[in-house]
Parts: sequence; C-alpha cells; structure tokens
Amino acid sequence: MLTSIKENHLTNKGQELGMMYYRVAIILFGAQLLMGLIAAIQFLAPGFLFELFDFSVARMVHINALVVWMLYAMIGSTYMMLTDETGHEGVGLGLGKLGFWILTAAVTVVVLVYIFVQVGAGTEASLWLIHEGREYIEAPRWADIGIVVVVLIFYFNVFATYMKGEKTGIMTVMVANLLALAGLYMAGMFYTDNISMDQFWWWWVIHLWVEATWEVFVGTLAAYALIKIIGAKREVVEMWLWIEVLMLFGSGILGMGHHYFWIGTPEYWWEIGALFSALEPVPLIAMFVHVLYDWGKEQGAHEARGEAKSVIANGPAMAWIVTNAFGNFLGAGIWGFFHTLPQINIYTHGTQFTAAHGHLSFFGAYATILIGMMYYGLQRAYGVERMKATFKSKMGIFLTTFGVMGMTIALTIAGYEQVLVERGEMGATWNAFFVAQELPWYIQAQMWRAIMGVVTFLGFIYLVWDLLTIGKEAQRAEA
Ligand code: HEM
Ligand code: HEM
Ligand SMILES: [Fe+2]
Repeated sequence: MLTSIKENHLTNKGQELGMMYYRVAIILFGAQLLMGLIAAIQFLAPGFLFELFDFSVARMVHINALVVWMLYAMIGSTYMMLTDETGHEGVGLGLGKLGFWILTAAVTVVVLVYIFVQVGAGTEASLWLIHEGREYIEAPRWADIGIVVVVLIFYFNVFATYMKGEKTGIMTVMVANLLALAGLYMAGMFYTDNISMDQFWWWWVIHLWVEATWEVFVGTLAAYALIKIIGAKREVVEMWLWIEVLMLFGSGILGMGHHYFWIGTPEYWWEIGALFSALEPVPLIAMFVHVLYDWGKEQGAHEARGEAKSVIANGPAMAWIVTNAFGNFLGAGIWGFFHTLPQINIYTHGTQFTAAHGHLSFFGAYATILIGMMYYGLQRAYGVERMKATFKSKMGIFLTTFGVMGMTIALTIAGYEQVLVERGEMGATWNAFFVAQELPWYIQAQMWRAIMGVVTFLGFIYLVWDLLTIGKEAQRAEA
C-alpha cells in the first residue's frame, strides 16, 4: 500500500487520490480500535486511566474516528472508480489533492484537540473550537466549515467529470446520491439549545446517512465491484441497483421515525417509524441475494465455457464483499429489526442491545465493503491480473469478523440482562440502571466483549500487514 502510487500502474490522478484517502482511512481505523479497547477496559475497571484518558474521551474518539475513516474510504472509493466509470481523466483533480491535504490537516488538529482538551464548560467558544457535542459528528464549527469546503471540491470533481464523461447508470446513482449524502451533513451543523430539536435534526444526518444514502452508496460500490471482480453483466447489476435505490429510500427515509419514539416529537411518528423501519430489511435481503446469485451465475457460466479456475479476479476483495452481503443483512437487517418496533424499543432503548446493533451494522454494512474496495484499489495500483488471498488476508478477514461477531453476541447478552433486570423487573429507574450493571451476566458479557475486541484488533494487524505486502506478492506470483 505504501508504494502503491510509486508503482506507476495507476493511470490517473483520480486513482492516486483514491489510494491517498485509503491510507489515512486505515490509520484512523486503527485509532478507532485502540480507543474502543480503552473504553472496553473502562467498562470492567472504571478507574482505568481515570482523569488521564476518561471513558467519555475514548468513546468520543472511537466513534468519531469510525465515521471519519469511513467517509475517507468512501471518498477514496469514489475517486478510484470515477475516472474508470466515466472514461474521463478527471476534472480539477489537482484541486482535489489540495482538498485532501486540507482535510487531513484539519482532522489531525481536531483529534489532537479531542485528546488534549478533554473537559471544560460548554460555551460559544467551545462550540467553535473544541466540539459541538453531537454524537458521531462532534467536529467543532471551524472544522465543519472546512469539511464543507473540501466536500464541495470533491463534489465538483465528481460532478464535472461525470458531465464530461460517459454517464453510466452506476455513476448517475452515485452523483445524485452523493449530493444528498453531502447535503445532509448540514442538518447537523446549526445550533439550537432545545434538545428535542437538536436530536430531531441530528438524526437527519445519522439515520439518513446510514439507513439511506450510505446504503445506496454501498449499492453502487457493490455494483461496480461485481462487474470488475467477477465480470457480472452491467445491465443486470444496474437493474438491481435501481430497484435497491427505490426500496432503500422507500423504507429508509420515513424509517427515521424509529428514532422519534421518545425524544418529544409528535406521537404519529410511532406508527410511521414502526411501519417503514420494519420494511428496511427488505432491500438488505435483496442485496444479499443479488451478490450471491450473481457470483454463482458468473462462476457457472465460467465453468460452462470450460475455464476451470475461479471467476474471481480478486480473492480478498470478493471475500470482503460477500462478508458485506451477510453483515449488512445481519447487523442492520436482523439486529436492527429486533428493536425497531416501539413496543420492543421501550425496553431495549439505549441498552447494550443498541451497542450490539451499532457494532455489527457499521462493521457488516460498511467496514467490510470499504476494505474490499481497498483490495481492489491495490490490484489496480500494482497492475496485476489476479490477486489471490494470502494467509494474512485470510487471518485478517477471519479474525476481525469473528471478533466483531463475538463482541456483538456478548453485547446482546448484556442488553438482554439489562432489559430483564433494569427495565422489566425494576422499572427503568436510575438505581435499576446501576443494579443491572453489577450483576454477573452483565460483567461477564463485558469481559467477553473486551476479549473479542482483542481478537478484532489482532485481525486488524493481519489486515494492515496484508495491505502493505499483498501488492508486491501478487506481482511476484504473476511474474
Ligand atoms: C447499516 C445500517 C445501520 C447502521 C450503521 C446502524 C447503526 C445504528 C447505531 C450506531 C445506532 C445507535 C445510535 C445512538 O448512538 O443512539 C442505531 C440505533 C438504532 N437502529 Fe440502526 N443502524 C443501521 C440500520 C438499521 C435498520 C435497518 C434498522 C431497523 C430495521 C435499525 C434500527 C435501529 C433502531 C430502532 C435504533 C434505536 C435504538 C435505541 O432506541 O436505542 N437500524 N443504529
Ligand atoms: C477493538 C474492538 C472494539 C472495541 C473493544 C469496541 C468497544 C466499544 C465501546 C466500549 C463502546 C462504548 C459503548 C457504550 O457506550 O456503551 C463502543 C461504541 C461503539 N463502537 Fe466500538 N469497539 C470496537 C470496534 C468497533 C468496530 C469495528 C465498530 C464498527 C465498525 C465499532 C462501532 C461502534 C459504535 C457504532 C459505537 C456506538 C454504539 C452505541 O452507542 O450504540 N466499534 N465500542
Ligand atoms: Fe435508524
């Protein structure tokens, strides 16, 4: 990965920018996991690093780094496929490079401020300089404005290249969806001192990102990757893509009501949220079927032509994309559906159940396919026909997936115990909250989460090691 640009196999600046974004993404992913490990230890030993590196800080950096590395990998993937899909060398990519450096400098400063300026009064100045206090998107206002500027440059690159180049169905969906994705960020930027209003708009960013625009983004990535990696037919994947867009937006937009059950919004959101969010797993099933069906079909056609080898041109990328099909369906579809009806959510709201769903969905729906795209980028960068999974690729995907699944199960058990004791038996009082956290089921579950977190981290080390070496290894194998 380090020498990927020097290799000179990338044919234009767009792909180079893609690799630059991927590198920062993977570093931030590592930072995310380290922060998660600190926070997980603090669940077991609350005094750990107390007043040096508090839980609130570890947790904040953990989930903000998560969102930022995913956005980096998404921008990287867009640049990677932009010039290829449009058949155009790219418009204004020099400006795009400048944007990359500005954004990366800003992210570095913001993270350092999070880590070094941890506590203090919330004032107008802290809003501008330290953070806005909105979970997942805590960047202070100066950085918010910088982000908007850089994203405008990015969008200009994408839109202008699209207008000048070939307009495939995949790129059309991409261009329209990115406009919505970027525009939604602004719903989380203005200030109100009314907590209900604040939450109302905050969910426009968080929910309409992960359950609408990010999912559509994944649809475009999967469509593109299936064409490139297994030679799926463009007509077929684009047909699927349009159906997915319809179903994802059809259910996901009003599905936002499942966050409006208890924050002070009108009660009609109960029915709207219940109905539409209950439909959200449907497109995820469709996406799952689509990936596996196309893979089977192309492999079959491949064998029928008498070609014995596998149809897959990039083993690790395909492994991560198939994991995405399962993970998206399980983490978002199943674990999301569990608690999406108000009758159930009244018991599960804000328990470790939510954290279980949060982990499996972000990992299953997004981390997986973005890592897959990084492997595809490496294949381009090193100019190899076929990239086979190495031992390190296999350990990377196995240990991270097993680790996250393990954490999810542990947290689900912790959440179940909270529902029974804190909510069911003791009636959700303040005291009940603490009683539930001191029972053995809860503590053991938190212990398993920490252990599985270490397993995840080991997988991450294998993953990075593989990303750093697989390109050269594939070149050697081909020579
Ligand atoms: C990849 C897509 C998804 C991601 C990344 C995701 C992630 C998350 C996260 C991180 C939270 C916690 C938010 C917080 O901090 O308060 C959450 C909450 C929630 N999610 Fe999802 N989610 C996804 C899809 C879904 C789907 C498809 C459903 C329903 C079918 C769903 C149902 C819910 C519900 C009901 C809550 C509120 C939990 C509570 O009341 O505590 N999610 N989601
Ligand atoms: C080394 C592995 C990891 C450990 C030990 C870990 C640990 C933690 C801890 C302790 C929290 C705070 C939970 C709370 O406030 O109750 C948290 C929150 C969260 N983590 Fe992780 N994490 C890890 C990896 C990941 C990964 C791989 C993802 C997704 C790709 C992820 C996504 C999240 C999300 C979305 C939240 C917020 C959940 C919520 O509040 O509902 N984490 N994590
Ligand atoms: Fe949601």
